Amino acid sequence: MIKTAVIGASGYIGNNLLQKYRETFPDCIGTGFSQVKHGLIPFDLRNPNCDSLNLEETRHQTVIIASAKPNIGWCESYPKESYELNVSGTLKLITQLAQRHIHVIFYSSDYVFDGKEGNYSDQAKPTPTTEYGRQKAEVEQEISNITDNYTIIRLSKIYGTAWKDNTLIDNLAADLLQGKKLKVATDQFFSPTHIDDVVAMTMYVQEQKIKGLVNLCHATIYSRQQIASKLADALKISSSLLESVSLHSIPGMENRPLNTSLICSPSLQKFQSALWTIDEAIEYVASNWNQKSLNSKAG
Ligand SMILES: NC(=O)c1ccc[n+]([C@@H]2O[C@H](COP(=O)([O-])OP(=O)(O)OC[C@H]3O[C@@H](n4cnc5c(N)ncnc54)[C@H](OP(=O)(O)O)[C@@H]3O)[C@@H](O)[C@H]2O)c1
Repeated sequence: MIKTAVIGASGYIGNNLLQKYRETFPDCIGTGFSQVKHGLIPFDLRNPNCDSLNLEETRHQTVIIASAKPNIGWCESYPKESYELNVSGTLKLITQLAQRHIHVIFYSSDYVFDGKEGNYSDQAKPTPTTEYGRQKAEVEQEISNITDNYTIIRLSKIYGTAWKDNTLIDNLAADLLQGKKLKVATDQFFSPTHIDDVVAMTMYVQEQKIKGLVNLCHATIYSRQQIASKLADALKISSSLLESVSLHSIPGMENRPLNTSLICSPSLQKFQSALWTIDEAIEYVASNWNQKSLNSKAG
């Protein structure tokens, strides 16, 4: 394993990465911003200062940038503030890391695409329609002007299977079990990918010294409606709670890209048969919730 620091280790993806790296290197650096939990170093990406991280003295060879403001609505409402972090600060940090000859991994997003075609390859040209997507596309484009020691990993929707992890399937399960009526888009397609697979494939990309840009995802494309409907079945909840709608009919979603599905990079294709499938993940999350409800009845 390559000794790696994680910027944004208080976030969902960064926390999962840091836990894995720390199994081998307990002193791997992780940073937080508003949540500086135990073992994390405070770091503001809007005004980055690599010196505070002591990366060279502690022999870190890679820095993963998992810090961002990824909330699409927030970026739309606060373009200047989000740009300061998602673009200006990120590029400043990359410049400092390049000066120290440290490999940079940057997480980009399927939102760099307008969602008109779907099935975007590593080579597809970004066509963002949202502020968040434009910000990710700008960093994708600018990195190569700063360094060639970088890997951009484009992700689609990332979910986990831990109980109450607040990701895609768990959130849907919580809502359905509370009897909430949900509007689920039939025309929004993406490539949902399990967090454990993101961690494993990120490490593979790093070990293999794959540089440039790779799409990292599960190959199967789903809509939110398809996932919610499978989950309702697994939880034995009436699908009448689900209202199938068009994404653009939901207030605030009018300009969202519809089909941002990615084609997984050829360099990661060999993992496909071993990745979590949505069916496995749905069964797992449903059994988490069934188990908790049995325990609470018994207790
Ligand atoms: N999750 C997905 O489905 C997905 C999909 C595609 C791409 N991505 C990309 O993957 C990366 C990680 O996403 P995530 O879901 O793990 O995001 P997340 O849970 O929202 O975590 C964001 C991280 O950024 C940090 N941060 C916020 N403001 C900061 C600042 N001013 N300075 C330094 N750090 C700051 C947060 O720190 P505090 O919490 O301590 O404030 C947190 O550690 C992002 O670049 C995102 O765009 C994620």
